[in-house]
Amino acid sequence: MFRPSRRLATLPTPATIAMAARARELKAQGKPVISLALGQPDFPSPAAALDGAVAEVKAGHTGYPPIPGQKPLLEAVAGKFRRDNGLDVSLDQLMVCNGGKQAIFNAFMASLDDGDEVIVPAPYWVSYPLIARMFGGVPVEIACREEDGFRPQAEAIRKAITPRTRWLVLNFPNNPTGAILERDDLEAIAAVLREAPHVMVMSDEIYEHLTFDGRHHLSLLNVAPDLADRILIINGMSKAYAMTGWRVGFACGPVPLIRAMIKVQGNTTSGICTLAQGGSVAALKEDIAGVQAMRETYERRRGLVVDALRRIEGLSCALPQGAFYAYPGLSALIGRKSAGGRLLSDDVAFAEALLEEAHVATVPGSAFGYGPHLRLSFAASDEELEEACRRLAGFVQGITD
Ligand SMILES: Cc1ncc(COP(=O)(O)O)c(C=O)c1O
Repeated sequence: MFRPSRRLATLPTPATIAMAARARELKAQGKPVISLALGQPDFPSPAAALDGAVAEVKAGHTGYPPIPGQKPLLEAVAGKFRRDNGLDVSLDQLMVCNGGKQAIFNAFMASLDDGDEVIVPAPYWVSYPLIARMFGGVPVEIACREEDGFRPQAEAIRKAITPRTRWLVLNFPNNPTGAILERDDLEAIAAVLREAPHVMVMSDEIYEHLTFDGRHHLSLLNVAPDLADRILIINGMSKAYAMTGWRVGFACGPVPLIRAMIKVQGNTTSGICTLAQGGSVAALKEDIAGVQAMRETYERRRGLVVDALRRIEGLSCALPQGAFYAYPGLSALIGRKSAGGRLLSDDVAFAEALLEEAHVATVPGSAFGYGPHLRLSFAASDEELEEACRRLAGFVQGITD
C-alpha cells in the first residue's frame, strides 16, 4: 500500500493551488467565480513564440535535447542578460529548466543537506520553503515590515545568519507584495554577505520587467559583482512573456553550482521540450516592446485595483511597485463575522468565506508567511477586476461584529 515518504507527508499543498482548485470546483457547479488566485498573465504568448516552436518541429528538432539547454536558447538567454541587465555571462554559467520552479528545485537539491538553513524574507512566494523542506532544508523566515515597504532589512538578515545558513532567497520584484529593491538596499545586503562567505544568494528575478512608476529592476549582481561566485539568478519566460504553459525557466550562476544543477536535471526531467525552447528563442530575440505593452497594462490595472481596495473601509493597501499582485491588509476585519455567518478568525477563513459567499478567489497572506492579508492578482481583464472589487466591497460591507 502507498505510504508517502516522511519528507512529503509533512508538506502542505500550496495555498495558491488549493484556492485555485476550490475555485474550479465552484465554477464547475455553475457558480460565477472570478479567480484572482493564480499568478498567471491573461495575455496570449507572443506570436513569435508560436512561429519559433513550429519552426523547431519543421526543422526536425524532435530528439532528446542537451540537458543544460539548446545552444540557440542559451545564447538568447546570454543576450537577454546583456540587453536587460548589462551582465556578461558565459554559456557554462547558464542552464534552461522546466520553468523557474525547476531551477529552484535543482539548486536546492544540488546544495542542501539535512538541517541546512535557508533564509526566506516574508512575505515570500510559497515554493521556496516547501522545496527547501523537500531536501531536508530548514526555512528561516524573517518578517519584512509593511512600513519598510516589505523590503528585508540588512540587519535582520545579519541576525538570521548562522553557521548552518546555506542560502538567502531574494525575490524582487516580489510575489506577493510587488516590492522592489533599490541600490541602497542591495548594497546593505551585499555588505552583510561579504561578512558571511558561506552564504549563497538565490535571486529570483522572474518579475524583472514588471516594474511601475518609471522604476527599474536592479540585480544584486549589478551592485556586487565581487559576489558573482555566490549568486544564482532565477528567471524565465512565464511572467514577462506570458508563457506559463511553455515551462521554460533559466538559471545563471557560478559554474560549479550550474554543473551540479545539470546533474540533478539529468536525473529528473532531462532537457526541456525542444518546441518550447524554439519558441523561447524567438520570443527573447524579438523587440522588448511587446513585454513593455503588457507592463503598461498591468500598471494601469494596478491603479484600478488599488484605488478600489483603498475605498473599502477596513482594508489597507500599499501600492505595489512591480509584479501583478495587490496585497491588502485585513487586520481590522479579523475576528468578525461574514454576512453568511462565517467567523473570520484569520485570513484563511476570510479568503474561504469570500470565495464561498462572493465567489472571488484570492490567496490568504498567511500562505506567504505574512498575514492577515489577501493576495489578489491583477493579471485579469478590467471587467473581471472591477466586478471582483465590487464583490469584495459588498462582502466587507456585510461583515458584522
Ligand atoms: C516568484 C516566482 N518565482 C518563480 C515562479 C515560477 O515560475 P515558472 O515555474 O512558471 O517559471 C513563480 C510562479 O508563480 C513566481 O511567482
